[in-house]
Amino acid sequence: MSTVGSKARSVAQIIDSVQAFEGAGFLVHRPFPTQLLSQVDPFLLLDEMGPMDLGPGEAKGAPDHPHRGFETVTYVLEGSMEHKDSAGNSGKLNPGDVQWMTAGAGVVHSEMPSEELLRDGGRMHGFQLWVNLPSVDKMMRPRYQDVSAATIPQAQTLDGSVWVRVIAGEALGSKAVIDTRTPIMYLHYILQPGSEVLHPVPPDYNAFAYSVEGQGLVGDDGDLVQRGQIALFAGDSDVVRLSVPSEATEPWNLLLLAGVPIGEPVVRYGPFAMNTEAEIRQAIEDYRAGRMGVIDF
Ligand code: FE2
Repeated sequence: MSTVGSKARSVAQIIDSVQAFEGAGFLVHRPFPTQLLSQVDPFLLLDEMGPMDLGPGEAKGAPDHPHRGFETVTYVLEGSMEHKDSAGNSGKLNPGDVQWMTAGAGVVHSEMPSEELLRDGGRMHGFQLWVNLPSVDKMMRPRYQDVSAATIPQAQTLDGSVWVRVIAGEALGSKAVIDTRTPIMYLHYILQPGSEVLHPVPPDYNAFAYSVEGQGLVGDDGDLVQRGQIALFAGDSDVVRLSVPSEATEPWNLLLLAGVPIGEPVVRYGPFAMNTEAEIRQAIEDYRAGRMGVIDF
């Protein structure tokens, strides 16, 4: 696929994230769902956890809760988290690690600060992404992909001006190790001042950039995306353009996400995302009856 000389995707919207409190009360910046943006099919939610500096005993998490019908993807940048679930899995996420959990038919899990983060305090920063599942996969057996930072491909340009961590999809010749149910790109880019990325994204993918630190420009018109803002791309080209002016004083740290929309009705209720109201009622009933399991260790 050649993108030379072609126009980059135009920018449909740039929206501020909102602040919210999740779980037992930890701060998140949430680009969606909000009043302005309910989802970016196939993505149901993106939460930036923190960044926040916590004192000893202050760290909070999300104690035992269920999920059904989609996937939760946790990516830790700073600090560490511990998770446990009703299938007997447990593990710790350190900076750079990713847990891609396919809840499918249902799982109960807890997502808590690590013992040392709770005891000593420290900085917490990370992301949680919810990826919807197509109806054929909503009741699949739960699946886990715990991927350590060392296993996740990273790449950079020869001059070092662009760095990328490839969580899903492909960038700078590196392919992700995580397997997704539908075609997804999840890329963490850092662009130095004066650099530019032309990232191929087929027109049938919905795509957005979320600005984590610093600011940058998107599209051929160079629309500014500030920290905490999400830029939604139109599907009018097969390439996304990201750049940072050479006079910028800091690098631009962003997530680029894209996926083929599922295009099915979405009925959401808290931790469940199904196609119909009846399926949501069933999910609540199954959870209450203990059919999604319990964490008993
Ligand atoms: Fe969860």
